[in-house]
Order: sequence, then C-alpha cells, then structure tokens
Amino acid sequence: MKTVLITKQIPQAGIDLLSEKGYQVIVGDEDFSLAETSSISGLKNIDALITLLSDPVDKKMIDSTPNLKIIANYAVGYNNIDIDYAASKGIFVTNTPDVLTNATADLTWALILAVSKRIVESDQFMRNRLFTGWQPMLMLGGDVTGKTLGIIGAGRIGQAVARRAKGFEMNILYSGRSRKEKFEKETGAKKVTLEELLKQSDFISLHCPLTPETRHLINRNNISLMKKSAYLINTSRGPVVEEEALTMALKEKNITGAGLDVYEFEPEVNEELYKLNNVVLLPHVGSGTHETRAEMSRIAARNVISVLETGQPLHQVNR
Ligand code: GLV
Ligand code: GLV
Repeated sequence: MKTVLITKQIPQAGIDLLSEKGYQVIVGDEDFSLAETSSISGLKNIDALITLLSDPVDKKMIDSTPNLKIIANYAVGYNNIDIDYAASKGIFVTNTPDVLTNATADLTWALILAVSKRIVESDQFMRNRLFTGWQPMLMLGGDVTGKTLGIIGAGRIGQAVARRAKGFEMNILYSGRSRKEKFEKETGAKKVTLEELLKQSDFISLHCPLTPETRHLINRNNISLMKKSAYLINTSRGPVVEEEALTMALKEKNITGAGLDVYEFEPEVNEELYKLNNVVLLPHVGSGTHETRAEMSRIAARNVISVLETGQPLHQVNR
C-alpha cells in the first residue's frame, strides 16, 4: 500500500482524493514536526509527502525518506524545500499555482486599503469608545485613486493586483526580470528599474518569490529611496524585507505605513511593530479562503496521485 504523510490537517477535499485511491494517509497532529521526525524510522516507508510552507525540507530530511517520490508543497512558494537536492534524488517537488492568485491579490488589496484608510486604527478607536462626533481632522488617511502602484515581481499574483488597481485608476509600474507585453497592454503598466519604482510609487507591493537574489531586496538603502508618503505591502515572503530596517523606517515615519502578511522570522515578529499604529499585521493568510484552501488541498493531492500512478507530476518546480 502507498503511504502519504501530510504534516498537518489540511482541508478534507484532498485527503478524500488520496483515500479513494486506497492510499494510507497519515496526518500529523498539532505538535507534529518534520524536523524532529526525520530521525525516526517511520519516514522510511513514505511514498509521498504533503508539506506546508512552514515545514523545512532539507537534505537530512530527504535522506531519511528512501522511498519518497514526491514532495507536494501546499503553497505556491517553495523556498522551504531544498528542491535541487530533491531533484538529485529523483524526487519531484510540486506547488499549488494559479488557484491562490485571486485570494492573495484580494488580500493584498485589503492591506492597501486597510493601511491607507487606517481601518484597523479606526476600529480600535471606536471600540475604545473614543468617537465623540464628526471631526474635520479625525483619522485622515491617504488617497488611493489615481496614485502610482509599484509591483515588484509581475508574476501571476502581481499582475492580478495590478488588474484590480485599474478600478482605482492607478498608474502601474513594475520591476522584475522580464518584460510582460500582454500585461502592459492590458493595464498600461510600465517596466522600470527597481530604483525608479521605489522613488515614484505611492504604494509598493511585493510579489517576487524568495530567492538568494530577493532576500532583503527591501533594505535600509532601498527604503531610503521611497517617498515619505509611501506605503509598503508585503504578501510574498517575509525575508524579502529586512524587517529591522522597515520597523525603523515606520517608527521614524520615513515612510507612511505598511501592510504585512509575512515576516522575516515567522512566526516571530519584531516586537516594535506591535507598538506601531502605522502598520497593519496579518498572520500569513494570503491564500486563506475556504474555497482556495480546499482547491489547494485537491491540487496537492492530484500531484501526489499523478506521480504515484503515472510517474509524472502536474506542477513540478524542480528539474
Ligand atoms: C503562501 O504563502 C503560498 O506560498 O502559498
Ligand atoms: C505566483 O503565483 C506568482 O507568479 O505570483
């Protein structure tokens, strides 16, 4: 019998697909940790592994699973996995692209609006019973309509964020490796250097994967190029931003605000950020809708089934 290990409970939809195939499905409980399990002989018989973005899959882990044929990451990002080492062992690594593009783009917009309109602060203000009536200077925020949005990494998610910006009549800039002509036609987006993007944008939104090149892409130096009135939004990966430098910039009001869904040392968050009211903090929920997470579960399962039945994955990320 084929055995599939899922490191934590994910929506049942995918688990059902695996069970219907007659596989043995093991689901890790709350305290399950892949790192601590890799020394245990139990991993020896596993044919397939469904991992979360919070599960580090390193050489040691891979070496302890001689039967493993696929690591299906329950995420679009896969920086948690040593994909080249997996490839060297003939193990496929897959992700869940496309399905979470809209959910993540929507959440990015929730952050853009929340931080510029001071939604969280205003809600706190109400709950603290501080509202005494309309005031000309109360909780003033920043405009969104007509402003410039800078997309760093115009992949699927970055492009989806930009399409939504058309409804707000925004000017769109993007930076990244390749020119996207169809995207430019569709949205009027203009490709610029990172430096120009940082200097000209009112809202800067990160949508690049985490790689050695993008780690600390937003550092002290680059933050100093941004407008004082700018907002930074990060729904990609925490380490793309040097959190300490961002925290300082927010504290000293060198930029106006930030909306963060991800953190450099997740789940740790720079203590100072908790004290600032010009930042909106979310617990890495970019893809977190019922519909999207169920579909991610199905896609991870379909990748497992495809590899175990045909030897070929559907969404391979390592060659
Ligand atoms: C979420 O962060 C993902 O990569 O799916
Ligand atoms: C991920 O889906 C991306 O291309 O942004």
